[in-house]
Amino acid sequence: MKWDDIYFGVDYYPEHWPGERWETDARLMKEAGFDAVRMAEFAWVKMEPELNRFCFEWLDDAITLFASYGLKVILGTPTATPPAWIIESAPEILPVNEKGGRLGFGGRHHDCQSNAEYRKHAVRIVTALAEHYKDNSAVIGWQIDNELGNSHEDLCMCESCRSKFHEWLIKKYITIENLNECWGTIFWSQTYSGFHQIPAPRITPNSHNPSLLLDWKRFCSDLIIEFQQLQIEIIHKICPNHFITHNFMSFFDKIDYFGLATNLDFIGYDQYPGGFWLKDSAFLPPFELAAGLDLMKGLKDKPFWIMEHQAGPAGWETLGPTPRPGQLRMWTSLSVARGADAVFYFRWRSCLFGTEQFWHGILPHSGIPGRRYDEIKKTISELRPVMSKLKGLKSQSNVAILFSYEQNWAIEIQPHHPDLDYIQQIKKYYAYFYDRNIAVDFISEESNFSKHSLIIAPLQFLTNERLVERFKTYVSNGGNLVLTMRTGVKDDNNVCLDSHLPGPFSDLLGIEILDYDCLRELSVQVSLDGKIAGTAQKWCDIISLKSAKAIAHYNGEYYKGVPAATVNALGAGQSYYIGFEPDDALMSNIMDLITSELNIEPIAATPKNIEISRRTSKKGNYYFVLNHSGEKVEFTPNPGWKAVLGSDVLEPYGITVYYF
Ligand code: GLA
Ligand code: ZN
Repeated sequence: MKWDDIYFGVDYYPEHWPGERWETDARLMKEAGFDAVRMAEFAWVKMEPELNRFCFEWLDDAITLFASYGLKVILGTPTATPPAWIIESAPEILPVNEKGGRLGFGGRHHDCQSNAEYRKHAVRIVTALAEHYKDNSAVIGWQIDNELGNSHEDLCMCESCRSKFHEWLIKKYITIENLNECWGTIFWSQTYSGFHQIPAPRITPNSHNPSLLLDWKRFCSDLIIEFQQLQIEIIHKICPNHFITHNFMSFFDKIDYFGLATNLDFIGYDQYPGGFWLKDSAFLPPFELAAGLDLMKGLKDKPFWIMEHQAGPAGWETLGPTPRPGQLRMWTSLSVARGADAVFYFRWRSCLFGTEQFWHGILPHSGIPGRRYDEIKKTISELRPVMSKLKGLKSQSNVAILFSYEQNWAIEIQPHHPDLDYIQQIKKYYAYFYDRNIAVDFISEESNFSKHSLIIAPLQFLTNERLVERFKTYVSNGGNLVLTMRTGVKDDNNVCLDSHLPGPFSDLLGIEILDYDCLRELSVQVSLDGKIAGTAQKWCDIISLKSAKAIAHYNGEYYKGVPAATVNALGAGQSYYIGFEPDDALMSNIMDLITSELNIEPIAATPKNIEISRRTSKKGNYYFVLNHSGEKVEFTPNPGWKAVLGSDVLEPYGITVYYF
């Protein structure tokens, strides 16, 4: 396929610059080693200034010019920015928030994705764009919309979405009696006599029924996936040889990203290590950057593209810090190290106007190349040879973390402890492995478990029998499974099970939980082998053993001496249960205990602030060693490793790539 290659690209907005400048930009891009540009994802009004009057000449000119410099083009469908004339003609397109207020025109994504009028407009512009560019040899693929779900606040709660929700519920529950039963609507007299009575979960005097809330989140996610699918089908039909992707946002959680990924050729990812939104740190901690990338790799179990990579200081009204010399190069290498086959920088040049004036591009406002341009140029020439050996190949890890959007939603609805957060919990377990240079794959409930010798599946709050059976098979066949607190609590309808905890997981784990404690203002010491090993936070499950053995005990409160964590053998494998959220010390101690029994090796030992990851080529392994600090650091490679880029001494934010 034409697009099955390594790409370095930029996100470029020809509509922001006079036509006379385009050639200078194309030349500078070519000189820096770029091969592609992404364009047009916000240019609806310029492509269709009024209904059915399509103006693609300017875009044709831009594409022709960039193509004459050998640059390929990825087009974005512009549906994130319905123009003012559309909104004027159909103001009901504007989304409605949870207070019932309609949001105004402005910003972007001022659209309700279920609205029939909006969809008509979306279908028209996407069809026209695809028809116009289907035979253009410079165009190789498409990005659908932009960061779907972003800017949608609480997602739209308009009447159109509500009636779509009703259709979704009818399909799921068939009869209203069934829904009433499944949701337990007799509570507070909420029994419905028809689907039409069911609200979108706008603000009410008290909290909504958790079953309604969970279905609403599922519905919103499905709606966005369906909206994307509408566009995928148009483009597939008209441009069967082009790829289709979308730009994802790491741990963004309003859409089930496994579902959003299904019909895309590959994942596009937006990587901003130092955004302005961070309150208490300058840049995202390295483990979080790695986790975001690993999640992207896990969504389709294959390499991905970076559709937007930070290119300078970033911010809208307020700014994040300026990437230090070397940092853009190091972050780019980090993306490649964890599976990127292409890197596009956002954006080419800092815009002079609009909301993102200070979201800096590779070029400053002046358009004159400087430090960032030089650094990225160097990065491209260095990384390309390594990337060409790795293209399309995904490295396999021994350890996996199961990520579930549904569990996240259910915990978001009822976090129990006010600070309990599913994603944070996932990241905590991820960080344990990251700190030890142990590679982790993110998997879904549907993944092939047998590829991993250890699977961590935190907070399996909602239970489905199929997953319980899949876990049993995995463990019986020799797998090692770690489950944690609040597992087996509810059914799929977000209703509590009428059994002892952990419900249907009880046999697998060989335990019962008859009592628990939400640790407000409290933390409880936990001992391993009779020694204090750290503290439990937020929650304690008070565990009774059936067939399991205790591996940790509480050392306080009325449950002093009671099992806090357990292991149970089943067939050739074992299931662990951790009945609390561990603090850092306890996380280390308990996970060390679990992993020491398994043969899980780190990639290599590294000094502080040095990250290492491995990508496997057809012939051998490439080891990416990255210095996340502003200090010079020396690294000792394993015997036989050959540096193909850099040396054993890493400059501040330096990188070295070894081959073995
Ligand atoms: C997001 C969007 C881009 C741009 C950048 C900077 O990632 O996809 O269009 O808005 O943020 O704000
Ligand atoms: Zn709506």
